[in-house]
Amino acid sequence: MLFRNRSVHVKTPREIEHMRTVGRMAAETLHAVGSIIRPGVTTEEINDFVHKDTLRLGARPAPLNYLGFPKSVCTSINNVVCHGIPGAQKLQEGDIINVDVTHLFQGFHGDTSATFYVGTPSEDAKKVTEIARRCLDLGIAEVKPGARLGDIGAAIQEFAEGLGCGVVTDFVGHGIGRKFHEEPKVSHVGVRGRGERLRAGMTFTIEPMINLGSPEVEVLDDDWTAVTVDGSLSAQFEHTILVTETGVEILTQRPGPLQNSEIFPDYWA
Ligand code: MF3
Ligand code: CO
Ligand code: CO
Repeated sequence: MLFRNRSVHVKTPREIEHMRTVGRMAAETLHAVGSIIRPGVTTEEINDFVHKDTLRLGARPAPLNYLGFPKSVCTSINNVVCHGIPGAQKLQEGDIINVDVTHLFQGFHGDTSATFYVGTPSEDAKKVTEIARRCLDLGIAEVKPGARLGDIGAAIQEFAEGLGCGVVTDFVGHGIGRKFHEEPKVSHVGVRGRGERLRAGMTFTIEPMINLGSPEVEVLDDDWTAVTVDGSLSAQFEHTILVTETGVEILTQRPGPLQNSEIFPDYWA
């Protein structure tokens, strides 16, 4: 109980080892998804691939039946911001698709997502995707003991809005552990120096959703699919991270470069 009393948000060394294990597993499945992205593939096929790969690793797909979600992964295409439900829709040349994988293993969750290019992207698709990728990196770069949650949101908001994009505020990052979603809420907008102070041992996600246009979203009649109100493209990347004594550890680091996503290394050069 000694550790727990420091803060409800801080995990014990034993819990952190579990988070490392499940984080690595979720990253492995997301990495494998990169190899199956191409025109003609249905989101149902992506779901089945993720489901099988998750079980192959000995884990469970946390989305399945979570608050009634009917599938094992979220697949969000083009103007879909998040929580897209896999089905008969086929990927088309030029689409972008976020695949959001969450594994549950030995009582702990690992949550990670990426946006993939289907074939050759438009300049708009490239812009929103590369901005979202960089927003996650900039958010992670703020993480260290003593920093504030507001520092993360500010770094993301300054960069995305500076390039004319909208940062979604209806959905946020989250603490993660034995629960899929726990405290704290990790906003992707914010003010430096504000918000809860980060402490070594906290585990949470950063998962900025960036819209090419307005940050406004609406949820469709299926009660899950969130889309941009203005119809603009939206992209997202997510990692589960640990606050360490010296800074940050990415718990969902992939085993190698992400096919069909990390294909423009010189975009910001
Ligand atoms: N993986 C999403 C997140 O990043 C949550 C999906 S909830 C589900 O928080 F029910 F749609 F799976
Ligand atoms: Co998440
Ligand atoms: Co997720």
